[in-house]
Amino acid sequence: MADMCTRLALLLTCVVGYTAALPWFLHGRPRGGMLGSPGRAGNGPLPPDQWVTQRLDHYNDADLRTWQQRYFVNDTFFKPGGPVFLMIGGEGTADPIWMVTGAWIEYAKEFHALCVMLEHRYYGKSHPTEDTSVESLQYLSSEQALADLAYFRDYMVEKRGLTDNKWISFGGSYPGSLSAWFRLKYPHLVAGAVATSGPLLAELDFVEYVEVVRDSLATTGPECNKNIQEATDAVKQMLGTQEGVENLSKLFNLCSPLDVSVANDVANFWSTISGNFMGVVQYNKDNREFEGAVGTNITLDVLCNIMNDVSMPLVDRYAAVNSLMMKTYQQKCLDISYSAMVKELRETSWESAASEGGRQWIYQTCTEFGFYQTSDSPNQPFGDGFPLSFSLQQCSDIYGPQFNQSTLMEGIKRTNTNYGALKIAGTKIVFPNGSIDPWHALGITKDPKGTDLHAVYIKGTAHCANMYPARFGDPPELAQARETIKGHIQNWLSQ
Ligand SMILES: *[C@@H]1O[C@H](CO)[C@@H](O)[C@H](O)[C@H]1NC(C)=O
Ligand SMILES: *[C@@H]1O[C@H](CO)[C@@H](O)[C@H](O)[C@H]1NC(C)=O
Ligand SMILES: *[C@@H]1O[C@H](CO)[C@@H](O)[C@H](O)[C@H]1NC(C)=O
Ligand SMILES: *[C@@H]1O[C@H](CO)[C@@H](O)[C@H](O)[C@H]1NC(C)=O
Ligand SMILES: *[C@@H]1O[C@H](CO)[C@@H](O)[C@H](O)[C@H]1NC(C)=O
Repeated sequence: MADMCTRLALLLTCVVGYTAALPWFLHGRPRGGMLGSPGRAGNGPLPPDQWVTQRLDHYNDADLRTWQQRYFVNDTFFKPGGPVFLMIGGEGTADPIWMVTGAWIEYAKEFHALCVMLEHRYYGKSHPTEDTSVESLQYLSSEQALADLAYFRDYMVEKRGLTDNKWISFGGSYPGSLSAWFRLKYPHLVAGAVATSGPLLAELDFVEYVEVVRDSLATTGPECNKNIQEATDAVKQMLGTQEGVENLSKLFNLCSPLDVSVANDVANFWSTISGNFMGVVQYNKDNREFEGAVGTNITLDVLCNIMNDVSMPLVDRYAAVNSLMMKTYQQKCLDISYSAMVKELRETSWESAASEGGRQWIYQTCTEFGFYQTSDSPNQPFGDGFPLSFSLQQCSDIYGPQFNQSTLMEGIKRTNTNYGALKIAGTKIVFPNGSIDPWHALGITKDPKGTDLHAVYIKGTAHCANMYPARFGDPPELAQARETIKGHIQNWLSQ
């Protein structure tokens, strides 16, 4: 039954702790993880869970503790001598639906590949420690995850006698970066890497994120951003009077009236109502179904149509966008209480709502990456209500005072030194990017220097679009990108 629950939790039917205090879109990550599940035709069986024994700490020979990591296999298309395709799991439960669909499965059919997917440590069912306390989370890092991939490869080679088979790695979003870094750090283990929508530059204050959201909203016409800006100004004004605050609390359906003397609640309010736009833009029209089919028909056109609807006052339009998202994610009221959110994110049991991935992912942002989507740029319509200090405050409030700005800045510097950031070296990596995806701002934006490194630009698409199954009506650029990526894989395999 526990099994059922974990799987069904993604489909929102078995609501394991989907409480209101955690917004549906937090720090650029929707519940479930940044790469949504692809849509699925048919309902044949999915491959079963399999387990590999891993070291807890790959970088300490004296520490012999081990744990069980989950993986999946699809060998339907495999022919002896064929390649091995490795899908890298990320900051959410590894969804076995990827084992039967997606662009990589189409490639596997053509190249007769063995498909394997390894769940990322600390996410889904891959629990290296008994809980997610700060003490336990010290073994959660991209470097440990890369070492897991390396030892998993060894294990599979031995188990299946794959001594001479070439491996290709795949990943989207954070695992897109992992895919590139796997090839960078272990070039003898992987013949080439597809690194989709990967943020390769760790950055504390990711101000470009909302700027790209603005640019993407602008593709519907100039009105949308102008109206958001004016609605933002109107909300700001309302926050200045008691009556205005009462009206806002009603309009945005807050669970309890906003207390403007609590600065973090006000910041959380701003971050939540802007998050509605960010989350929709990030996945605009992707052929995906995260949390089941929920929300996939809410596009930036839908939001902009509401913002441009002159039959309503501006603030009401802003509130209507919020109501639409609340209805979509089945929230009865909007809980913007900062203390309630922090309290949930401090829970360290694997059964808690935070352990769905939010707690682990925020830990990685607080130690390795930053990536805070703040309102610190003046060139965007969402005001200045969720500055960097608000994100940093969360690090110390959730994990403890030692997680402060200076320790994080050290961590970010280390990440960029370790992997090379946008000057990543290495060879045989392809970097697809989508023009409207806010994350592209930290990705590879032009053909990098170095042999066999390629950017693939996909005009008009959002986060990880090229990984989802093709469908009727995909823009020609997207279909072309899938072909281009296939061409690179072909080259790597034939060398
Ligand atoms: C592999 O994927 C194909 C395509 O979706 C599917 O038909 C097949 O059942 C899968 N095989 C396994 C072992 O899951
Ligand atoms: C609050 O709402 C009432 C009723 O709709 C309206 O008359 C009033 O002008 C609003 N006040 C503010 C400050 O928004
Ligand atoms: C999206 O789809 C749902 C379920 O089919 C439907 O109830 C809703 O009205 C649709 N929303 C929009 C904005 O098209
Ligand atoms: C941040 O935390 C580190 C580690 O606990 C500590 O040494 C340092 O003094 C702290 N810095 C600030 C500015 O609080
Ligand atoms: C993506 O890569 C292409 C090809 O190098 C580049 O021209 C483009 O500017 C990039 N696009 C974005 C949105 O980063």
